[in-house]
Amino acid sequence: MAKHLIALLPGDGIGPEVIAQARRVLEVYRGALDLELWELDLGAQRYLKDGTTYPKAVSERIANEASAVLLGALGDPRAPLDYARDILFGLRFGLDLYANVRPVKALHDRLVPLRDRCAADVNMVVFRENTEGIYVNMGGNFKRGTPDEIAINEDVNTRKGVERLIRAGFDYAKAHGHKVVHMADKSNAMAYAHGLWHRTFFEVAKEYAGIEPKHVYVDAMCLYMVQDPSQFKVVVTCNLFGDIVTDLGAALQGGLGMAASANVHAGAPSPEKGGKPRVAMFEPVHGSAPPLAGKDLANPLASVLTVGMMLTHLGMPEEEARLERIVTRAIAEKKCTRDVGGELGTRAVGDWVVNELKNELK
Ligand code: NAD
Ligand code: IPM
Ligand code: MN
Repeated sequence: MAKHLIALLPGDGIGPEVIAQARRVLEVYRGALDLELWELDLGAQRYLKDGTTYPKAVSERIANEASAVLLGALGDPRAPLDYARDILFGLRFGLDLYANVRPVKALHDRLVPLRDRCAADVNMVVFRENTEGIYVNMGGNFKRGTPDEIAINEDVNTRKGVERLIRAGFDYAKAHGHKVVHMADKSNAMAYAHGLWHRTFFEVAKEYAGIEPKHVYVDAMCLYMVQDPSQFKVVVTCNLFGDIVTDLGAALQGGLGMAASANVHAGAPSPEKGGKPRVAMFEPVHGSAPPLAGKDLANPLASVLTVGMMLTHLGMPEEEARLERIVTRAIAEKKCTRDVGGELGTRAVGDWVVNELKNELK
């Protein structure tokens, strides 16, 4: 039996195209890390064929045996999104991956769309709560389809859930020498739910001497991210706001084709010494981008950087740094797709990255 079972879930749209390139990168490390790659046929195609979404046998094997999951994206205009939620939330909620860690880091000045700002100004990590909030699918419709319809989605926030996510942010800040942690909420409008976030944030902060807790309303944070993103280093926030501000963040780092993420249980991804780490799930921030699908146009670099985050989780942080350097060179030398100023196709970018990687590791 291999040391690490890695489940690959390419999914829909551009998912299979970018994950094919990420897989080639992972294959380079197969021997060194003793990896078994287990590719799963789940997503819209499978759902439309036989109604399968996220089978129990798969979820159990992932929970009990896998070290990591690499997901492409889910979403297909031909199918209702229930299957996608089953899979995506089956992983995030089912494995209790409460921290969605989303680095917002620009790797080259050319990628930053703001006037008078450079790559050094865009370098933060957003900790998005990943198991609660408005995503819990509690609610319903009453008098559906009538003029009197009522539609409710409950926003669930627990003290434990909020606290562990905030703690993950502070632990990360402490480990990386950051002096400030921001918390983005809407406690001015959502007095109960975000009152809890506000109180918990300042209580937890007391345990972290030398780190200043700064509260910011999420609407203002969007403004500040565009005006001066350099003030943000570590941001903690709820599920929905984390989703939204990281797409804004992606725009600051060159678009969704450059944004990587990890879904983890225990704070920041950390190298484990020996043994099997607790399973975590890794995915580019972007979706299935249906208009790009099947055209060899999708940028695979977010997925390459996502593999980097997985390598840190598997105990090889120096390899995450190596992949980041190679991706940075790909941008600098225009060995990249059109969305980031190059002319190559998805596969050709993969060829270039894998070739550089193999040369370095020779
Ligand atoms: P999207 O992320 O698919 O695309 C948004 C924009 O970014 C588009 O202009 C797209 O062309 C561009 N883009 C995204 N990834 C890119 C890449 N790798 N290279 C170049 N350009 C890229 O978001 P959307 O259009 O709002 O959603 C499409 C579908 O994806 C929906 O069904 C949505 O629910 C789903 N989705 C899934 C996930 C996931 O599975 N984790 C994440 C986000 C969206
Ligand atoms: C993401 C996506 C998902 C989310 C959607 C597809 C439910 O936007 O991973 O960023 O909102 O979490
Ligand atoms: Mn999103």
